[in-house]
Amino acid sequence: MKKVLVTGGAGYIGCHTVVELLNHDFIPIIIDNFSNTDERILQGLEEILGFMPIVYRTDCTDYKAMHEVFSLEKPDAVIHFAAFKAVGESTAHPLKYYHNNIDSLLVVLRLMDEFNVNELVFSSSCTVYGQPAMLPVNENCPPQQATSPYGYSKQVSEQIIIDTCAARPQLKCTLLRYFNPIGAHPSALIGELPYGIPNNLVPYITQTAAGIREKLTIHGNDYSTNDGTCIRDYIHVCDLAAAHVKALEWLSGQSNVCEAFNLGQGKGNSVKEVVDTFVRVNNVAVNIEIGPRRSGDVEQVYADVSKVKNALHWQTERSLDEALKDAWKWQRHLTQA
Ligand code: UD1
Repeated sequence: MKKVLVTGGAGYIGCHTVVELLNHDFIPIIIDNFSNTDERILQGLEEILGFMPIVYRTDCTDYKAMHEVFSLEKPDAVIHFAAFKAVGESTAHPLKYYHNNIDSLLVVLRLMDEFNVNELVFSSSCTVYGQPAMLPVNENCPPQQATSPYGYSKQVSEQIIIDTCAARPQLKCTLLRYFNPIGAHPSALIGELPYGIPNNLVPYITQTAAGIREKLTIHGNDYSTNDGTCIRDYIHVCDLAAAHVKALEWLSGQSNVCEAFNLGQGKGNSVKEVVDTFVRVNNVAVNIEIGPRRSGDVEQVYADVSKVKNALHWQTERSLDEALKDAWKWQRHLTQA
């Protein structure tokens, strides 16, 4: 069985991927500094799995501590999630973002070289596309000027991996460009932990429905879309997690490769459609108001998923309805806890 280091493995996408890895006979080793998650996720994982996976409370930018983990665990592959991801915060604290997101990747790549670990699955984002000229956007679409330090950190990270792959013939990498991950594990034992006021749409909707927030502000209804609100490609986090397993399986049959893959449903939904769907499938009310556009938002982006379907034999299996039901179930679990 292959041992996989999962940096950021106690985070939102990381913890769902840990479950998926164990379901497919990989051994995940979690590395997390718990700066943006907490013990509840580990308890949830333990309940789902029936045992506690191996966890290192380690910061990925700490070369010495990470060296120790690599020498103790001798992994076969790495999935590198550990990163900050709040667009607005990255504009206020760019150095925090560049330090965490870039230094952690440099440490991981350096140690993979030193310990001869040759398979890397990297968490990238559709943010690298900016507002693409073509929709649905495919992986060949040239990156646009990033609108935030967070977005730029993902573009630079991709380039660092491409350059490292070109220089190190044993290395094999996938750059997974996530669209908008939402929802939670159907058990409602793991999900996204909201710290402070949520930035993202779905946690804001669920907190409004739960009465934690007074109302959801829709950021602009004057875009050139059907109902005037922005369009995104929302993907259930469990589908996203499954793609990481497919990526690892694919990499093991490759030699010196560095491929980007879009991970989305392949279809866009507007903000208003997401809110209406949430209300319909959960039979709860959500107070809304229309506000001004949010700076840095692109009007619409959704994925061309033909490359990932053909190469990794992966596609989404869960609908928007299901994702929004699971998101609500997770919110209720958090509210009751
Ligand atoms: C952003 C990032 C993406 C990152 C993701 C996770 C960009 C361009 N996108 O996605 O790379 O992976 O965050 O952190 O950098 N909205 C409202 N009201 C709200 C919240 C959101 O109307 O209270 C709208 C937004 O204006 C947007 C849509 O909902 O149109 C989705 O927003 P959000 O969930 O924040 O994700 P993105 O900005 O698409």
